[in-house]
Amino acid sequence: MSSHTRGQPIALVGPMGSGKSSLAPVLAAELGYDHVDTDELFAHQHGPIPEFFRVHGEPGFRDAEAQVVAEALTGKQQTVISLGGGAVLRDTTRDFLVEHCYVIYLQVSTREALRRLDDGQGRPMLENNPAETWEQIATERDRLYRSVADQVVDTTADSPRQLAGKIARRYRRAEKTHDH
Ligand code: S3P
Repeated sequence: MSSHTRGQPIALVGPMGSGKSSLAPVLAAELGYDHVDTDELFAHQHGPIPEFFRVHGEPGFRDAEAQVVAEALTGKQQTVISLGGGAVLRDTTRDFLVEHCYVIYLQVSTREALRRLDDGQGRPMLENNPAETWEQIATERDRLYRSVADQVVDTTADSPRQLAGKIARRYRRAEKTHDH
């Protein structure tokens, strides 16, 4: 288990439908932390993500996303940050995560992800063949998620509350490890 400093921000990474956005507020409440969601910040600054994708394509989205993520990650303490599933594609983002955050990689089965995502509604990356595309994306990115992760947690069968309890316990234990 990796250690971390007191109050270090927690970043949630993982593929679409792995439960990042629904877990963030529950985990934050469990720890008495704030929470932010980079997709929400993105929409706030740039408008709806599907529209942005249509106009600027994926490369334009990744550039703008990297800015939003950098702002969201900078100078945070006692905060749970849920990241868009593709944010880890940027090496600068991965470097920042490794350096400054305690990172949880959320995994999920393809079937459960597709159920949660209503077959990809509102996700421009899943416009064609959602199930196959989701699996391909999750497989391709697995090594990137692992390369930044302090914890790997499967969310397929557990509620956000159960997951938050499990993650918070390990996070606190890792903090103690570091302090002694
Ligand atoms: C994306 C994931 C989405 C959103 C965008 C692209 C991706 O976020 O950032 O549609 O490339 O995996 P969620 O992981 O919160 O669905």
